[in-house]
Amino acid sequence: MGEIIDGRLLADKMQARLKEEVEAIVASGGTRPGLVVIQVGANPASSVYVRNKENSAIKVGLHSQVDRLGAETTETELLNLIEEYNNDPKFHGILVQLPLPSHINEDKILDAIHPDKDVDGFHPVNMGNLFVGTPTKIPCTPYGIMKMFEAYNIDLNGKNAVVIGRSNIVGKPIGALMMAENATVTTAHSRTKDLAKVAAQADILVVAIGRAKMVDASFVKEGAVVIDVGMNHDENGKLCGDVDFASVEPKASYITPVPKGVGPMTITMLITQAVETALGRKIDFTGILG
Ligand code: GUN
Repeated sequence: MGEIIDGRLLADKMQARLKEEVEAIVASGGTRPGLVVIQVGANPASSVYVRNKENSAIKVGLHSQVDRLGAETTETELLNLIEEYNNDPKFHGILVQLPLPSHINEDKILDAIHPDKDVDGFHPVNMGNLFVGTPTKIPCTPYGIMKMFEAYNIDLNGKNAVVIGRSNIVGKPIGALMMAENATVTTAHSRTKDLAKVAAQADILVVAIGRAKMVDASFVKEGAVVIDVGMNHDENGKLCGDVDFASVEPKASYITPVPKGVGPMTITMLITQAVETALGRKIDFTGILG
């Protein structure tokens, strides 16, 4: 039976610690760490994500601003706004919620955010630093997964890790992060032959493929650690992951649920990176679960 990795609990503990860091900065006369989130258009899923980010930022005591721009906003207008925030010392983090409307080039927008304020870790400079082994800002979902491994004392050294999914946001960076911890990493995806057989080699299985409950017990080795990045709705409209939890949980040693698994950690790492930018150093969360 798998031990549940409680992302909600870990996120709450980390956010309480972040609040202390924020208040210490302010008490010593420093600028309150600031985060601006920009949403263009009204994609319903994006609106939920942006609201959750705003609520967490406020809870931790950040100077939080959300710019909700009309879908007709031009690329030039958005680039000009980003340039303003790049030069505004009130904001330590800038996040442009994706996806953007199709008339705006996402790569151009991500390139325009100053790498030091890129709390999403999506800028090519930050991505490059991650892949050459000198990480700066790190994409938040993979960073949150690494914090889960740390908090639950899951050692990656010499383990077989399989990632299902090859996105820039999750699949590629989690592979680089686990490799840096001496795991042997295989990146599988929708075109991988015998996907279940490949996955079943994993001591650590990270699933980020975006298909509801696709990974069942046949993909999982007895005793594997299973991390579910999926965020889908099942046939009854209920939130579910990419992993069929009921089928996989009995075989796993550790498993993340959906909801209350990886999701809360993603937002926490976003806030962490804004606070770390203000501090000019990394925060050590070792032993945070007590
Ligand atoms: N859209 C879906 N996930 C993300 C994310 O992590 N960051 C941004 N900026 N947009 C997203």
